[in-house]
Amino acid sequence: MMHVFHRDQRESYPVAVRGEGCYLIDSHGQRYLDAAAGAAVSCLGHSDAEVIAAVEAQLRRLPYAVTSFFTTEPAEQLADLLASDAPPGLDKVWFALDGSEAVESALKLARQWAIETGQPQRREIISRRQSYHGNTLGALSAGGNAFRRAPYEPLLVPMHHVSPCYPYREQGVAESDAAYAERLVRELEHEIARLGAENVLAFIAETVAGATLGSACAVPGYFRRVREVCDRYGVLMILDEVMCGLGRTGHLHACLAEDVVPDLLCLAKGLGAGYQPIGAVLIHRKVSDAIASGSGAFQHGHTFMGHAAACAGALAVQRAIRNRGLVEAVRERGQSLGKRLREQFGGHPHVGDIRGRGLFWTLELVRERDTKQPFDPSLGLQARVKAEAMLRGLTCYPMAGCVDGRRGDHVMLAPPYIITEHQLDELADKLARAIDVAIESSK
Ligand SMILES: Cc1ncc(COP(=O)(O)O)c(C=O)c1O
Repeated sequence: MMHVFHRDQRESYPVAVRGEGCYLIDSHGQRYLDAAAGAAVSCLGHSDAEVIAAVEAQLRRLPYAVTSFFTTEPAEQLADLLASDAPPGLDKVWFALDGSEAVESALKLARQWAIETGQPQRREIISRRQSYHGNTLGALSAGGNAFRRAPYEPLLVPMHHVSPCYPYREQGVAESDAAYAERLVRELEHEIARLGAENVLAFIAETVAGATLGSACAVPGYFRRVREVCDRYGVLMILDEVMCGLGRTGHLHACLAEDVVPDLLCLAKGLGAGYQPIGAVLIHRKVSDAIASGSGAFQHGHTFMGHAAACAGALAVQRAIRNRGLVEAVRERGQSLGKRLREQFGGHPHVGDIRGRGLFWTLELVRERDTKQPFDPSLGLQARVKAEAMLRGLTCYPMAGCVDGRRGDHVMLAPPYIITEHQLDELADKLARAIDVAIESSK
C-alpha cells in the first residue's frame, strides 16, 4: 500500500472496507457515522440492496457501449425519469462522469447555443466569488474559490466574479432581504454592462452554495431577479446543483424553492449516490432545439459518458428517492437536524452562524461572535475538526475560506437521506466534542 498518490501526501488515510447504512467501517473495525455522505454524495447510505442489485444486473447484461455508436436502455430510462419531473422546459439530458464534467459540458453547451443562434460574440461568463464548480480547468475558471484557483491561475480561462449571496457576512445590519438581493442584482447588471451585454454568454451559480461557502441559501427573491436580468440581456442562466440537487435541500431540485428555471442545470453527487460515478446536465429546450435545428450535433463528449452500469445505478437511486418519499424525509429530518444544531450550538461562543436547508447544514466557526472575526487560517482549525471528528467515529465536511477564499472555517453536514433521529443525536454529540477539542487545541 505504497503507490497511490494520495490527495495529501502528509496524511495517512484509514482504509475504508465496508459500508453499512449511514456508517463507514475501516480495516481496524472503527465505525464512522458518515455525516457528510462522503462529499454530499451517498444519499442512500452505503449498502442499498436495490441499487447494488440494479448495477449487478446491468453489469451482467452489458457494462458499457460507447455513446457515439449506441444508446442503452438504462441511459434512456434514466433520462426519461429525470425529464419527467424536471422544472418545465428542461427535457433533455446530457450525461457526464462527475460534477466537474457536468459543469464543463454546460459551459460548452452555452457556447454552442450562442454560435447556433448567430451570436458568436457571446463568450463572457460571470460567476460568483467563493463558489465551487469543480476542479477541471474550465470549471475551476468558473469557480471563485481563491485557494483552489491560486496555483493554476495562469492556466485558467478568464471569467468574471460578482458577489455571492452570503447574508451572514455581506448583508447590511439594517438591510432588508429585498434590498440586499437588489444590491447583488445591480452588481450583476453592472458587470454585464461593463462587459457589453451582447458579449455575455452565461451566469453560473450554485443554487445553494456548497463547499466553499457552506450551505448558504440565497435571500428570497434573489434568483428570480437574477433570472429577470439574464432574460433581459439574453444571458443563459446555469445553475450548479451538483451538491445541493436531487433532494439534498428538501426539494428534488433546489431551484424549485427559488421559483426559477435555469437554462442548464448541472447534477452529479446524489445522482448516482456513490454507487456509480455519474453526472448530468438537464438542458432547456431553448438550448437543445437551437443545436438540434442548427448544426445538429453537440461538439463534445467523453469515452465513458452515459456508461450503462452507471446509468442503471443512478436509475435505481433516482427511483428510490422518488418511490420511498425521501425528499419529504429530507425535509423532516432536516428540520430535526437544524433544531438539534441550534440547541447544541446556538449559544456556543465560537459558532457564529448556523445555516442550511434540508439535510444540508453548516456551522461557521469564529474566534469572536460579536465581531465575526474568523480564526487565523494558519491554525488549520478545519483540519483539526476533521481529525477530532474522525477520532470519535464521525465524518463531517470542514472547509476553510468562506470569508474570502482563505480566512474563515466552517463545518458542513450533509448526511444520507436515510439518517435516523437517533443518529442525528449521535452526530450532534460527536460534532460538539470534536469542535470543542479542536478549538481548545488551537488557542
Ligand atoms: C457545486 C459543485 N459543482 C461541481 C463540483 C465538482 O464535482 P466533482 O468533484 O464530482 O467533479 C462540486 C464538487 O464538490 C460541487 O460541489
